[in-house]
Amino acid sequence: MLNSKIVGLGHHVPEKVITNEYLSTKMDTNNAWIIERTGIEQRRWMDPAKDTVANMAAKATRMALERAKLTEKDIDFIVFATITPDYFFPGSGVLLQRELGLDGSIAALDIRNACSGFIYALSVADQFIKTGKYKTVLVIGAEIQSTALDVTTRGRNTAVIFGDGAGAALLQATDKPGILSTHLHSDGRFAEELYVKDPGSSRPQEERQPEQILDTSTYKVVMNGNQVFKHAVVRFMEVIQEALDANALKTEDISLLVPHQANLRISQYIQEKLGLSNAQVYNNIMRYGNTTAASIPIALSEAWAEGKIKENDLICLAAFGSGFTWASALIRW
Ligand code: COA
Repeated sequence: MLNSKIVGLGHHVPEKVITNEYLSTKMDTNNAWIIERTGIEQRRWMDPAKDTVANMAAKATRMALERAKLTEKDIDFIVFATITPDYFFPGSGVLLQRELGLDGSIAALDIRNACSGFIYALSVADQFIKTGKYKTVLVIGAEIQSTALDVTTRGRNTAVIFGDGAGAALLQATDKPGILSTHLHSDGRFAEELYVKDPGSSRPQEERQPEQILDTSTYKVVMNGNQVFKHAVVRFMEVIQEALDANALKTEDISLLVPHQANLRISQYIQEKLGLSNAQVYNNIMRYGNTTAASIPIALSEAWAEGKIKENDLICLAAFGSGFTWASALIRW
């Protein structure tokens, strides 16, 4: 039986640092509130002259390839998780393929599962490797959230949370354990609790003409923070337990939990409930905010570079986000 193994990790974030102090000049908020409620000290926002979702993903990919001692030509398939593509269509996978100089001999697939997107993408890649269809799969989580934020007091509950960035993971087949399992869930009853409505297609034609759009607020992120928080803490716990049970493992077997970086208070709640030490949970939301599908691969890439992921470690990934969707993965490194 073939398994898949992560053989290379990389990440890239825009240069532009957005501090809490800067946001306080744009809206009624302050550093103390943001840190107390979210743990975020700063985030990176794109520079329109330099950054695109696809070019950030390409930079993350090149770091992953270098660390894995592979080249672009080794990639058989791209699975690209983003809810903030450069174009309404086509998806970001093909744009990354072009950035990497790869031709039509490989395929690129886009995944739109928000904060759970990276684990969904990892699961898709894992299935293709397990069946023997592909040998090397590039899995991406990359987002530019900043341009959909309402950077005024009206949008302060989201504007302070989200950031931009990209992470990449290269998967290859192995006859050793590798990715032990992935568990995916979704519940569309809560779709509008965290969403961007437009450019929605189910509109009368005339409403989609730019000159008709007087109110552009439907193009901004809308979030019911309390509802998201309440569901997130329950689902994170459930999906981590589901992964452990499926593999007959226990919480104490986890070497490192890398949760989606939604909010430091959510990560701390899970850590406490699971009884994990600070060393067993990796958080970097303080530096990057919530980068949606990019948050887990950026965190994995940094944790690996800091020597916090070693061979044979049990790594647990877990995520929750818009949809609602939630997911987990257990990996024997
Ligand atoms: N600065 C200052 N005050 C703010 C603020 C900001 N940036 N954002 C909201 N507030 C205010 C609210 O307007 C509200 O004021 P009121 O009491 O006068 O009405 C007050 O702070 C409390 O708002 P509330 O939404 O109840 O705060 P909260 O403790 O739930 O924290 C979030 C808000 C968004 C930080 C929190 O709900 C959260 O983290 N939710 C989950 C978000 C998440 O993880 N999203 C991504 C999912 S992947």
